[in-house]
Amino acid sequence: MIDVKENIKISSPATCRNEQILGESISFGRIFSDHMFTSDYENGKWNNHRITAYEKLALDPSCLVFHYGQAIFEGMKAYKTKEGKVQLFRPQANIERFNKSAERMCMPTFPEELFLDALKQLVKMDSLWVPEGEGMSLYIRPFMIATDEYLGVRPSDKYKFLIITSPVGSYYKEPVKVKIETYYTRAMEGGTGFAKAAGNYAKSLYPAQLAFKEGYHQLLWTDAKEHKYIEESGTMNVMFVLKGNKIITPALTSTILNGVTRSSVIEIAKSFNYNVEERRVSVDEIIKAMKNGELLEAFGTGTAATIANISAIGLDGENFDLPARNNDSFSSKALKHLDSIRRGVIKDPFGWIVSI
Ligand code: COI
Repeated sequence: MIDVKENIKISSPATCRNEQILGESISFGRIFSDHMFTSDYENGKWNNHRITAYEKLALDPSCLVFHYGQAIFEGMKAYKTKEGKVQLFRPQANIERFNKSAERMCMPTFPEELFLDALKQLVKMDSLWVPEGEGMSLYIRPFMIATDEYLGVRPSDKYKFLIITSPVGSYYKEPVKVKIETYYTRAMEGGTGFAKAAGNYAKSLYPAQLAFKEGYHQLLWTDAKEHKYIEESGTMNVMFVLKGNKIITPALTSTILNGVTRSSVIEIAKSFNYNVEERRVSVDEIIKAMKNGELLEAFGTGTAATIANISAIGLDGENFDLPARNNDSFSSKALKHLDSIRRGVIKDPFGWIVSI
């Protein structure tokens, strides 16, 4: 191993696999780049920061993560510019959110500077894995798991922090049909909804599967108390475009993920002179707006999903089709603008890009 930076040790795999793989059509999250970053938490400190070949983990079956679910993650992306430069999109926002998730799940935070350094070094080493072209990126998945070998219920004393990366195209290959969920609950006040905790996703699978059987791709979650107000969708925040250059989106609460793409789209919308309202959005309001033609578009925002067109919304067995997205739709223009910033096609007016 060569000590390149004070903290991070680096070892490389014997061969780079990307040439065999990157030529194939890329679907989301199936292939992984050559390297990964790992750090271990023990005795109250993060130690042994290393970049190694992508490899399997050897974990004791008693590790706390397998039993009580102390696991959090992030999703972020690196992009390649036309000139072949590789850049990260708003990594600081993801780092901060990761540490908020860690606190809520009683896990140690990861030092911000080291986090950014690890991201930069890892992506630099695997820069051949960053695909080029519209909608293409290297998806970056930092995550943390509890590794104490113990069956008692308490916060773990040991953790592993890892970063893996995967070249990706779009998460949704077609417009998304969502069903408004009025029975099952994703998050309740005082819970973990705002955190990127693995358990939030685990508990959404069963209700999402039921919706899938009815022909929907995703759920549109509603509040746990009354199921009257829209919260977010399974993999993304949601926004609705109304007539009169108006966009409404559920305000951030303890039950909604503070999406980085969400906040980026809000900034872009404001720069396009849209009036953005972050507030409670009721199911009734959306159904009415669909019925009277006020609702022009609905879309989801997320790192993986980018800006995903919602083509239909279902409620209590009734399905409402939305107008088809075209080149003049806000979401098409916002997606193009965001992608152009991320891939360096236009100058970044927001200070979101971090070169590596
Ligand atoms: C992301 O958009 O990065 C996510 O984490 C959503 C999903 C793939 C779980």
